[in-house]
Amino acid sequence: MSPNSILSFFLWHIAMLAGGPYRRTLTQAAGAQWAVLKPDIGIAAMHMQLLNNDRVVIFDRTDFGRSNISLPNGKCRVDPNDTALKTDCTAHSVEYDVASNSIRPLMVLTDVWCSSGALMPDGRLIQTGGFNDGDHVVRIYHPCNGNGNCDWEEIQSGLIQRRWYATNQILPDGRQIIIGGRRQFNYEFYPKTSSAKKAYNLPFLVQTSDPKVENNLYPFVFLNVDGNLFIFANNRAILFDYINDVVVKTYPQIPDSNPRCYPSTGSAVLLPLKDLQGPLIEAEVLVCGGAPKGAYTSARSGNFLEALKTCGRIKITDPSPQWVMESMPLPRVMGDMLLLPNGNVLIINGGSAGTAGWEYGRNPVLNPVIYKPDNLIESRFETQNPSTIPRMYHSTAILLRDGRILVGGSNPHIYYNFTGVLFPTELSLESFSPSYLDSEFADLRPKIVQPVSQTKLGYGQQIAVWFTVTGTVNGNMLSVTMVAPSFNTHSFSMNQRLLVLGGGNVTTLGESTYEVRVITPGSGNFAPSGSSDRAATIGGGGGGEGGGCDDQRRRQDCDDRAEATISSFPHFSFSLSFSFSSICFRP
Ligand SMILES: *[C@@H]1O[C@H](CO)[C@@H](O)[C@H](O)[C@H]1NC(C)=O
Ligand SMILES: *[C@@H]1O[C@H](CO)[C@@H](O)[C@H](O)[C@H]1NC(C)=O
Ligand SMILES: *[C@@H]1O[C@H](CO)[C@@H](O)[C@H](O)[C@H]1NC(C)=O
Ligand SMILES: *[C@@H]1O[C@H](CO)[C@@H](O)[C@H](O)[C@H]1NC(C)=O
Repeated sequence: MSPNSILSFFLWHIAMLAGGPYRRTLTQAAGAQWAVLKPDIGIAAMHMQLLNNDRVVIFDRTDFGRSNISLPNGKCRVDPNDTALKTDCTAHSVEYDVASNSIRPLMVLTDVWCSSGALMPDGRLIQTGGFNDGDHVVRIYHPCNGNGNCDWEEIQSGLIQRRWYATNQILPDGRQIIIGGRRQFNYEFYPKTSSAKKAYNLPFLVQTSDPKVENNLYPFVFLNVDGNLFIFANNRAILFDYINDVVVKTYPQIPDSNPRCYPSTGSAVLLPLKDLQGPLIEAEVLVCGGAPKGAYTSARSGNFLEALKTCGRIKITDPSPQWVMESMPLPRVMGDMLLLPNGNVLIINGGSAGTAGWEYGRNPVLNPVIYKPDNLIESRFETQNPSTIPRMYHSTAILLRDGRILVGGSNPHIYYNFTGVLFPTELSLESFSPSYLDSEFADLRPKIVQPVSQTKLGYGQQIAVWFTVTGTVNGNMLSVTMVAPSFNTHSFSMNQRLLVLGGGNVTTLGESTYEVRVITPGSGNFAPSGSSDRAATIGGGGGGEGGGCDDQRRRQDCDDRAEATISSFPHFSFSLSFSFSSICFRP
């Protein structure tokens, strides 16, 4: 990789475990707080992606009928193919500005329902497929700042095959692969290149499709550290070399053989990648929840089976990998799994009975659960304070730059139905603040001073991170992490990954000011989205069109708004740590 290769779209955090006099006890579910950010954003947040300018693109589907937010300037969409409303003057996509907590309606022309997406190295969101007239469409959203009016652009025949319930993964060279979708047992790339311009068969998707039920849609895809793709569908996985189009490894079936993919929807994460400078870098995947075999057919006849209570964890880099099963405190289907800045996993949203699909979920699970990957096996889960709002089918959750979780959506109905139904269509946006955000820990809150916005970074480069903290720093307990913002829909966060860059060697620069040196990841296999000819930044603003930090006021917003976060550090569930991102991460 050239030293100019870029590392973009990562949120940076410093996590610090409070030590010595600052060690405090974290009690069960301490502090975690819920807040309603917006009671009504006009649409049901079915798909969400955080952009590099701290805005979130949200969309549901064009054929829900009239939403609760109008298109601007009297615009209307006229679509004879729309199944609900041929002339629709309401929006089905919005942009949420985190800093101002405001919503701006956007216009999609064709149906984006149950689609997929990923960011490009230049910050554009590429959304692929959907339903009906939208199933071959690629839509591009180019972030703009200030009062910009950027909106969706559509490429009508952008895809070779229709993509509905597919999964996208960003590749080390910045392209993305689009895998599967309903009745699509194949994959393709975006953008196309002369050597990869068609759709390629993937028999694994035929093998894992349960007759009439599927149970393998929205497969869980992760880029492994060796550059191959780990693809989990239904109850098993392969390691796939997409360059040579060959399966290089077949993993054992998950021991109970129950399905974990749509509509028996569980969720999955690639656990934090550590020791990135070491000789042998390990990668582990955690799959949690889902619905037992037969649950979908049962739900269709009105019998809602209890969801799965299990998680399976597997070291995907192991020569003879095995699943290790664990039990969650609560059963859960349609949960979302999110990597927190401190390396813990949040499991949030969903129900404890039934399956995904219209009207098939029951018994909302209002309590999130945190999983601490480095704790001993029987002491990894911690139940969190509950929300009051059920988030069933078509709900979403993503990590924001300031450490909060943005939670939205839930619409198990074919239309927007606000009354007279079980689990009415939910238009609100909420935030969940893990206990690391509690104000009582403000004295241990690090604030990143440098690298400043627009710093250029390469792979394998040493960087000096300066930060301030008013309390006492225990350098051995400090850790710098990078988190990639994901595209979330249907309980899966595509492209989610967290890299632990390390810490430890902290030097004092002045009063309350410290430095820690870390090495950026060595290649795009760890931090995909690189593209060798583009400017790299942490923090952003550079490169013209995308930069939200180039205006001084916005930069101020970014830095000021970057509240430190505090959390229990993976190694020490009884202690507290702080994680923080004060840098705008615009490309
Ligand atoms: C829809 O919008 C109206 C007017 O803005 C508001 O009064 C109503 O509460 C909204 N409906 C929902 C379900 O949020
Ligand atoms: C409606 O769908 C048909 C068949 O898919 C297509 O040929 C036509 O262009 C579509 N019309 C519009 C306005 O999108
Ligand atoms: C849901 O909304 C649609 C469209 O407004 C309406 O036709 C239907 O009757 C509603 N369903 C229920 C159960 O109220
Ligand atoms: C720690 O950082 C200091 C200052 O940056 C440097 O001189 C020293 O070599 C580092 N030590 C280790 C063990 O990395």
